[in-house]
Amino acid sequence: MKETKTYFIITYGCQMNVHDSELLGGMLEEIGYHQAEEMEEADLIILNTCVIRENAELKVYGKIGSLKRLKDKDPALIIAVGGCMMQSNEAVEELYKKYPQVDLIFGTHNIHHLPDLISTIEKERGRIVEVWDKEEGLIPDLPSSREDDKKAWVSIIQGCNNFCTYCIVPYVRGRERSRPLKDIVKEVTQLAEDGVIEITLLGQNVNSYGKDLAGNIDFASLLEEIDKVTGIERIRYMTSHPRDFNAELIEVINSSDKVCEHFHLPIQSGSNQILKKMNRGYTREEYLDLVKMIRQTIPEASITTDFIVGFPGESEEDFQDTLNMVEEVRFDSAFTFIYSSRTGTPAAKMEVQIAEEIKKERLARLMELQNEISLEINRDLLNQEVEVLVEGESKNNSEVFCGRDRKNKLVLFPKRKDIIGKIIRVRITDVKSFNLYGEIISV
Ligand code: 5AD
Ligand code: SF4
Repeated sequence: MKETKTYFIITYGCQMNVHDSELLGGMLEEIGYHQAEEMEEADLIILNTCVIRENAELKVYGKIGSLKRLKDKDPALIIAVGGCMMQSNEAVEELYKKYPQVDLIFGTHNIHHLPDLISTIEKERGRIVEVWDKEEGLIPDLPSSREDDKKAWVSIIQGCNNFCTYCIVPYVRGRERSRPLKDIVKEVTQLAEDGVIEITLLGQNVNSYGKDLAGNIDFASLLEEIDKVTGIERIRYMTSHPRDFNAELIEVINSSDKVCEHFHLPIQSGSNQILKKMNRGYTREEYLDLVKMIRQTIPEASITTDFIVGFPGESEEDFQDTLNMVEEVRFDSAFTFIYSSRTGTPAAKMEVQIAEEIKKERLARLMELQNEISLEINRDLLNQEVEVLVEGESKNNSEVFCGRDRKNKLVLFPKRKDIIGKIIRVRITDVKSFNLYGEIISV
């Protein structure tokens, strides 16, 4: 056995999973593991999986298949698979039967057991499956191994009660459970003391925060509390549900200098008929009213969204309603997804599933329109100054640095010494649909 044991985590899916992976890393470091630079060198490889769309699952199976080579070379290697996909019995059975290279399978509700499970495997070898069907209260506060010194995720609510008919999340993440306000404030205060300046409050539906807590606590009051923490300069949150956004919350966001002017409000469809079948709980008109209310209060706000195309029964007319919603709202940007049928959800059983070619063709039309609008909106930023938190070298171009502005737009600019982790001012000199280019004005 090597002196220091190392781990490598591969994360699929949303920020919730990214954050869970930080917690998994934090717990492993407490039992003596260090992060490996390369997967090939690690003594323990963990896959933190996602089930939101079929593609996410296919990627996981592909990856586990390819890990067999490493396990054959080094039988002492521990391969663990956790996360949302493991909350399905079928997936667990399939993995257990067909992928003997997997030593440990765990779910979303018992991530805090990872150290014990790993210790057992180290001592006794053999394979372990430990998945809990249900959440048992909140996952306790855990240590975290953060990738970034200046930015941190903070979980505020776990689970989801919405049951949108296409969505698997409520089945794999359980019911809504809010973290006590004082624990969140304590964590944010500690992060600020450690030098963090930007936090993102995480939950499947942050607007539900506090509904299950005693007292008069809601998401707006949580933001007010976090706003008071000295040292934090930017507050973001995700994801919020358009149905639960109200004037009071917009007012709190407006009156805080720290809460960023970025609203990610997944709309999913512009057709009332489809919204109803999705069980989204708002109409197109209500969504438009919300956008109006935000823009009246915060005219410079960026509004981004998610769309699903090809939901069961979506006619060309319904899809046209989505396209004209894009034109009417003029979103800064949108994540666009092809509907993926998830076993166990009500939509999977709905009549008139849409053919793949139609879904693909609709996705292409939607993306083309949105990209054009994103570019037009970004053009208005030419010559303007934006405030950027410098992340470091851009992933796609090592010649330049990148960072996000308050609206969450990706900004690229020339490298300069000693600015990583700082908030700087950049003047925009060129724009594309997905990012902005600029020159540094002041640091
Ligand atoms: N198929 C396609 N997209 C989905 N999303 C959620 N469930 C599905 C599904 N079954 C999308 C929604 C959501 C985003 C995180 O993923 O747009 O907002
Ligand atoms: Fe995140 Fe949902 Fe995917 Fe789980 S299934 S990782 S909660 S997107």
